[in-house]
Amino acid sequence: MIEGLHHVYDERGPGRREALCGIDLTIGDGELVGLAGPTGSGKSTLVQHFNGLLKPAAGRVVVDGIDLWEPGPEQHRRLAEARRRVGLVFQFPEQQLFEETVFADIAFAPRNQGLPDDEVDRRVREAMDLVGLPPELAERSPFALSGGQMRRVAIAGVLAMRPRTLVLDEPTAGLDPQGRAELLAHLRRLHREAGLTIVLVSHDMDELAALVERVILLRDGRVVADGPAAEVFARQDVLAACGLRPPAVAQLMGELHQRGVPVPPAVLSVDQAERALLAVADRLPLFRSSRPPATGGGRR
Ligand SMILES: Nc1ncnc2c1ncn2[C@@H]1O[C@H](COP(=O)(O)OP(=O)(O)OP(=O)(O)O)[C@@H](O)[C@H]1O
Ligand SMILES: [Mg+2]
Repeated sequence: MIEGLHHVYDERGPGRREALCGIDLTIGDGELVGLAGPTGSGKSTLVQHFNGLLKPAAGRVVVDGIDLWEPGPEQHRRLAEARRRVGLVFQFPEQQLFEETVFADIAFAPRNQGLPDDEVDRRVREAMDLVGLPPELAERSPFALSGGQMRRVAIAGVLAMRPRTLVLDEPTAGLDPQGRAELLAHLRRLHREAGLTIVLVSHDMDELAALVERVILLRDGRVVADGPAAEVFARQDVLAACGLRPPAVAQLMGELHQRGVPVPPAVLSVDQAERALLAVADRLPLFRSSRPPATGGGRR
């Protein structure tokens, strides 16, 4: 839970910049949330507050009932606990890989925590499985892998701490379409099967439409929309003010709806669109199987 959160960079310097201006939001256990907004709107700043990496200028950050910045002798322990519960994957996390093997990289944080070898071993294998890395890659150098695989190694390194919440800052940026699709499929699986709460920062509305249930839109350090994905994507004026376009599928289906095609106005995924279009196909002259065969009558 975040309450009245303000963040100011370079508070007393020449580059003073209020990056977050009073954010209130609550993310419930097991939610799958998308965080979007234009460049510089404060997305990365906000997610670094989720596990206490940044300190608020004002406001409260509460993780599972732990008030992170409440002064007191226990503060250090509270921050450490928050960082264990909320795993944060930075943008281009593969730039922080540095060990000689995939195994050592993923094992880094649990080893640092002082866990015994067999537990570290178990955690690494579990994390590799969760992101779909085959076990035989464990002894390879992370730098010999594809871009998508390297990023999954970095995510596995965070999962090895067994966080309940996984926050990913632009996790598909720079990946090719296959790497992107694979990563999204694994995130979906982490949510459905492992029950993780996931917060996904993304510029890509199609990606969010395909994955998340709730969308939070930031602009100039403020929340300008927060609600079910279909509702937020239907608010074209708010999206336009953020310089964002609704997902392509939503745009197309909305247009068809407006032109009188009997499809629902708010459709977010290609699958839903396919079902909706097939359901009305027989009623559309273009698709009618009983239409008269072309006779060539118009031919010269
Ligand atoms: N370390 C920093 N020092 C000073 N200002 C910063 C720092 N990091 C970010 N800012 C400023 O704070 C504001 C919010 O930046 P932030 O990186 O959170 O935005 P963002 O929404 O993540 O943008 P992007 O989509 O480009 O990643 C911007 O004006 C940015 O220039
Ligand atoms: Mg950012």
